[in-house]
Amino acid sequence: MDRPPRVLFGVSGGIAAYKAVEAVRELVRRGAEVRVAMTRGAREFVAPLTFAALSRNEVFTEVWGSGNSPAVDHVEAARWADLFVVAPASAHTLGKLALGLGDDFVSTAFLAYRGPVLLAPAMETAMWEQPAVAENIARLRARGARTIGPESGPLASGREGTGRMAEPAAIAEAAWSLATGRRADLSGLRLLVTAGPTREPLDPVRFVSNRSSGRMGFALAEAARDRGARVVLAAGPTGLRPPEGVSVLPFDTADDLHAILVREFPECDGIAMAAAVSDFIPDSSPTRLHRAEGARTVRLQPGRDLLASLAPLRRRQTVVAFAAETGDLESAGRRKMEAKGADLIVVNDVGRTDIGFDAENNEVLILRRDGGAATVSRRSKREIADHIWDAFLAVRTAAGAPAGSRSAG
Ligand SMILES: Cc1cc2nc3c(=O)[nH]c(=O)nc-3n(C[C@H](O)[C@H](O)[C@H](O)COP(=O)(O)O)c2cc1C
Repeated sequence: MDRPPRVLFGVSGGIAAYKAVEAVRELVRRGAEVRVAMTRGAREFVAPLTFAALSRNEVFTEVWGSGNSPAVDHVEAARWADLFVVAPASAHTLGKLALGLGDDFVSTAFLAYRGPVLLAPAMETAMWEQPAVAENIARLRARGARTIGPESGPLASGREGTGRMAEPAAIAEAAWSLATGRRADLSGLRLLVTAGPTREPLDPVRFVSNRSSGRMGFALAEAARDRGARVVLAAGPTGLRPPEGVSVLPFDTADDLHAILVREFPECDGIAMAAAVSDFIPDSSPTRLHRAEGARTVRLQPGRDLLASLAPLRRRQTVVAFAAETGDLESAGRRKMEAKGADLIVVNDVGRTDIGFDAENNEVLILRRDGGAATVSRRSKREIADHIWDAFLAVRTAAGAPAGSRSAG
């Protein structure tokens, strides 16, 4: 896109309206053009002038305007925007958007708008759990709206619970990638992403697992989806919400994942193996182990190398492997790339606690088979995911393989 992305930013009536100020500021800082629309409720919390000054644009507050203007602002604003954000999205405004009502600027512009939507709900836990609100959210999601949050934490009422608006930086980032992410350079490709830990049973009630949160794999799946790919996400046990528009296949053990890979891999153009698969499988007991039986020794057998096991099924699939290493990342990564027959390897430094496992951010080293190496400095897993897909496309293009829309179109 050769012009700045345009965001129509709706603010509705909740305490979190003050945090929307930060999100607008961050979008402007990134280079977006932002026009803010406020409900009457929102104006009880923050003055329009704050948003006007930060967005450097007049703020829309009334459908009727001055009453004698020929412009139909809500239609113009809807046509102008690349993305419609509502943050905070109050229970009341969500209800209107779900029902198709238009009695203020935000809801009327929403009716006239066609394009990607990002909603950041914020409300008390009891309101969020209200079945009417849940139905409205489900309806909006089914029509393609993306949602971010709400998160758990302290609420304005002083209570703790789910309902807190997502952080402004996360809203700005999601908005930025939706508003700019109209590139569909992975369209035409079917991509398999694996995410999360495996769980290997010790007995019917216990398991051996690892600290993988699944966030990197989920971010890869979402980024690929947003770039037009058809995505199959094999997901281990994580607490993460399944991404919309992605086909999710759950697994528990390395054997379950193997079965998914054998079925799906031949149909795919590429795979990103971000799952943390157990290297060792414990001998498991079919009956529950009891303390009274005394000390036990658990024997760990080396597990199957899942990527290597796909070699006989491989045609022209591009393979991205992940390595969790400490020490000399590059040489460890290159050894693993050879062993796995991967085209790319993404190396995480698991000796650090601020990145990698279970962290929001990551910093990785991306190694290519042709010797290329790129460090992607610390940033969100979603941004890292886009770098990985960029490298994936570069490898496919260099290999002369069909690379998404470039050859499909
Ligand atoms: C102090 C205060 C805080 C509120 N916070 C929220 C909130 O976080 N989320 C919400 O959905 N409603 C909240 N409400 C209720 C809404 O402001 C109310 O439902 C209003 O009609 C929403 O209208 P709007 O969506 O058009 O802005 C709050 C009300 C008050 C008085």
